[in-house]
Amino acid sequence: MSNGPVLITGGAGFIGSNLADAAIARGRECHVVDNLHNGRRENVPSEAHFHQIDIRDAEDLAAVVGESGAETIFHLAAQADVRVAVDRPTFDADVNVLGTVAVLEAAREHGCAVLFASTGGAGYGEYPGLPVPSPETAETRPLSPYGASKMAAEGYLSMYGRLHETPTVSLRLGNVYGPRQDPHGEAGVVAIFCGKLLDGEPPRVFGDGLQTRDYVYVGDVVEAFLAAEARMPAGETINIGCADEVTVLDLVEGLGAGEPVLEDARHGELQRSALANDKASDLLGWEPAMAIGDGLQATLESVRAHRSDPNSRAPGALEVASAETG
Ligand SMILES: NC(=O)c1ccc[n+]([C@@H]2O[C@H](COP(=O)([O-])OP(=O)(O)OC[C@H]3O[C@@H](n4cnc5c(N)ncnc54)[C@H](O)[C@@H]3O)[C@@H](O)[C@H]2O)c1
Repeated sequence: MSNGPVLITGGAGFIGSNLADAAIARGRECHVVDNLHNGRRENVPSEAHFHQIDIRDAEDLAAVVGESGAETIFHLAAQADVRVAVDRPTFDADVNVLGTVAVLEAAREHGCAVLFASTGGAGYGEYPGLPVPSPETAETRPLSPYGASKMAAEGYLSMYGRLHETPTVSLRLGNVYGPRQDPHGEAGVVAIFCGKLLDGEPPRVFGDGLQTRDYVYVGDVVEAFLAAEARMPAGETINIGCADEVTVLDLVEGLGAGEPVLEDARHGELQRSALANDKASDLLGWEPAMAIGDGLQATLESVRAHRSDPNSRAPGALEVASAETG
């Protein structure tokens, strides 16, 4: 297992800051690169070295990567809002494609491995004949610029492996939820429902509420990134999900969020999505550990704790877990 410094792009965001906490807890020197576009400075652990730069500033990025001495770059910085991507596709491609190329160039120059946060559901899309849960061998047919930019970025990762022998792995994440979640992300619905519940308001559900997603707990996703770093199956693309279809109504019930208010279905939303996870088990020895009911309660607890003290750092998956055991 590697013990050298790590660099996390997007480390002021939801998943990246939970990953930074875990890396530090394992005694790793940790560098965070984030332009704070929507990440929060206070999410970055105080033990981490914070570099406020845009990944598209290739020269600055390469300089920071070189100075950090990082062996591994966890590349999570992204334009991750599907609706922004539809409204501003060139901005989405700029951050997600050109930004990723800048990260890969810095990695090539300084001999780093790159682990990339890609997407499952937005990558596969939905079409007749797509198996659900979807295996990595299924054709990707994205239905949004966000899905397309992530698939393009995956192409650059594998190409850098072939052309420059840069060790790269793409993890296709399910709908990640958990402590420190931002309501605007792909799985933002969990954070939104938690907020409504604490406000004493009913959850709003679009369509019949039977649309399914593969909700995977942020603590499990962090473990998948660290397992991918340790085992480094270079050149691989691996789904990280629970292989379970969970409906929006299941979330409402799991949170005890009350009777939902049903609203018109949203155009272009996928009806079903789940990710096969046998490859993650085979190549990474990874399996999701958190049951959805427990994960939802942990998320609710973290939102509640943060609301009671909004100036504090929102608790992450590690703090929530230690509060439960201690
Ligand atoms: N949350 C999910 O359900 C989910 C699912 C699949 C994939 N992903 C991917 O995982 C990664 C992390 O997602 P998240 O939910 O933590 O999102 P997030 O928005 O909380 O984090 C992204 C971070 O990237 C930073 N950033 C954005 N543009 C930047 C730029 N140009 N330069 C430097 N930093 C920049 C933001 O400030 C933010 O802190 C993203 O790549 C996302 O596409 C997330």
